[in-house]
Amino acid sequence: MPSEVTAPATAAPQRRDDIPGWFFGLDRAAFAHLLSAQTAAGVTGDVLELGSYLGRSAVLLGDHLRPGERLTVCDLFDSEAGDADNAAEMAMSYRKTLTRSAFESNYLAFHDELPEIVQAPTSVLADGRIPAGSCRFVHVDASHLYEHVSGDILVARAALGENGLVSLDDYRSEHTPGVSAAVWEAVFTGGLRPVLLTPMKFYGTWGDADAARQVLLERDWRADGYTVDEDTIAGRRVLRLNYQVKTPAQLQRSTPRRLALDLLPPVATRATRRVLRTLRERRAVRPTPNA
Ligand SMILES: C[S@@+](CC[C@H](N)C(=O)[O-])C[C@H]1O[C@@H](n2cnc3c(N)ncnc32)[C@H](O)[C@@H]1O
Repeated sequence: MPSEVTAPATAAPQRRDDIPGWFFGLDRAAFAHLLSAQTAAGVTGDVLELGSYLGRSAVLLGDHLRPGERLTVCDLFDSEAGDADNAAEMAMSYRKTLTRSAFESNYLAFHDELPEIVQAPTSVLADGRIPAGSCRFVHVDASHLYEHVSGDILVARAALGENGLVSLDDYRSEHTPGVSAAVWEAVFTGGLRPVLLTPMKFYGTWGDADAARQVLLERDWRADGYTVDEDTIAGRRVLRLNYQVKTPAQLQRSTPRRLALDLLPPVATRATRRVLRTLRERRAVRPTPNA
């Protein structure tokens, strides 16, 4: 996946982009579009996130809650993992920066109330504490190991109501083959219907996938700088969204600006980093084997 968006750990986030994490523009737009469309269509339900890290995606999920709806997040935060492989994953990617209190501060910078927080391995959610059929949207982005992700998909399936949507992170990264295995297993043996593929996330439903695709096509993604394609996978249609790649002429036009940014004093380094981050994200480069 692209590098984590980083920021000084102690700085209170001013903007949602200031929260470190791996939740980028295209998926932010897809989440916002799908959640807003559900609300516009009168679909109600809770929202569940498995794997929140410092709150970058949870804050957006919280933006879309309507009165009476609840967001539940489940993350280990600073707790121990339940098995050695998960512990190694935590040590490699999250331990240095992640605490529950940092998540809470980030979330409260944008919302009046915290979500329901389950600080535990996501496997605890298999006990049915999320009422069956209560959710309209589930974001799965916790452990990236097959054994965990396949369980998380079952949790999502039980939690989702009719036509609810699940988003599964890192379904195609070189360093997360277990996620790919769990996702496509759910498609071919578990009734999960693909709706949308982005460079980072798989979106699906156990309900009406055609209707969900139609909802996505109501937006003019091309006008907003994205590509739109449609594929068929073993008879199932799926949309693909990606970032439009700049032409060489467009890239050349932007190079002097990048160089100028490099020459600016240190106070401008955040802006420089933002430019580079955007470029990396657009090219879907995956330099760090984490998350
Ligand atoms: C990729 S990060 C989540 C990123 C976040 N959704 C965002 O968009 O910025 C993965 C998170 O999953 C958590 N995690 C890893 N294994 C877990 C497990 N077995 N149960 C619960 N949380 C876990 C980690 O603590 C980490 O915060």
